[in-house]
Amino acid sequence: MNVTLSTAEALRAALAGLLDGLPPKQAAQAVDRLIANYRGTTPTDAPVLRDRSDVAAYAAYRMPATFEAVRSALAALREAAPEWVPATHTDIGGGTGAASWAVAGAWEGHRTTVLDWAEPALVLGRELAGASGVEALRTADWRRARIGAGLELAPADLVTVSYVLGELTADARTGLVDTAAAAAQAVVIVEPGTPDGYARIIEARDRLIAAGLSVAAPCPHSEACPIEPGTDWCHFSARVSRSSLHRQVKGGSLPYEDEKFSYVVATRFATEPVTARVIRKPQIRKGQVLLDLCTREEALQRTTVTKRHGELYRAARDIAWGDAWPPPGDD
Ligand SMILES: C[S@@+](CC[C@H](N)C(=O)[O-])C[C@H]1O[C@@H](n2cnc3c(N)ncnc32)[C@H](O)[C@@H]1O
Repeated sequence: MNVTLSTAEALRAALAGLLDGLPPKQAAQAVDRLIANYRGTTPTDAPVLRDRSDVAAYAAYRMPATFEAVRSALAALREAAPEWVPATHTDIGGGTGAASWAVAGAWEGHRTTVLDWAEPALVLGRELAGASGVEALRTADWRRARIGAGLELAPADLVTVSYVLGELTADARTGLVDTAAAAAQAVVIVEPGTPDGYARIIEARDRLIAAGLSVAAPCPHSEACPIEPGTDWCHFSARVSRSSLHRQVKGGSLPYEDEKFSYVVATRFATEPVTARVIRKPQIRKGQVLLDLCTREEALQRTTVTKRHGELYRAARDIAWGDAWPPPGDD
């Protein structure tokens, strides 16, 4: 879709300009510090993103990946509710605004409010958004707010919580999910695609359902997740173009990397979740495609689609990890 593509391109352009003037060595050091902090003992009592070089490093290094992860989750919401358009959006722990960029790529005409406790992140986010040429970003409201017992949320059609739960104490995490569930018509939560990230998504999913919301994606249903705890974790992958900073810090010459993420989208309004979703990278063999599916009727299932299936086989060869199965229209 054009709007989405141009938002992704606008973000890349805005980020490319960000490190101009910051010596490459200093940028690389800021990224190293950031990575060390994120490996350290979060949750923290004070923001990890403390100054301009921290947030510039975060934006240049992580924002393209978190943007792509949220973009995938929103695409799944749009598939489940094609007619739905949010008029108001709150991005909690929004940082430099990755999720807000993804929302601006998915819909137009909404009012976004970004909440975060890190002032330097809000300042940089506002700058990037201001230069975007995208109305919903240019007009976004960037506000200082601390997630915790005192957090008050105005009602909003859409609430996004992207890569935030892992930075919170257990109480703040559950409190935030409950507050989001009470305030929003649709809640989108994204976490790293690790066993811990998945565990936080499942905890949030349970709370959203208990609060009266239904799961729109990625699950085909709002019943319990069929994955036995500790045996596996539901996650997906989004391809991210690597910036020159990425290549500088991580080495290697690949022009992209794959961001692994877990997510849940839950809504107060009715949606049409998929019949089944591909939950691993499809395995393409000679004359057959093996699909690992999470299904509405039979929980986890491996399906083999062979040449004998004709059209469906051709569709299976094009299907990607995270897609609906069968493809919409072939149901
Ligand atoms: C990993 S960053 C994610 C930023 C953005 N949502 C994204 O997807 O790129 C986590 C964000 O949560 C914010 N955060 C963490 N704990 C917070 C708290 N207690 N109150 C408010 N913001 C918090 C941080 O300042 C940071 O901007």
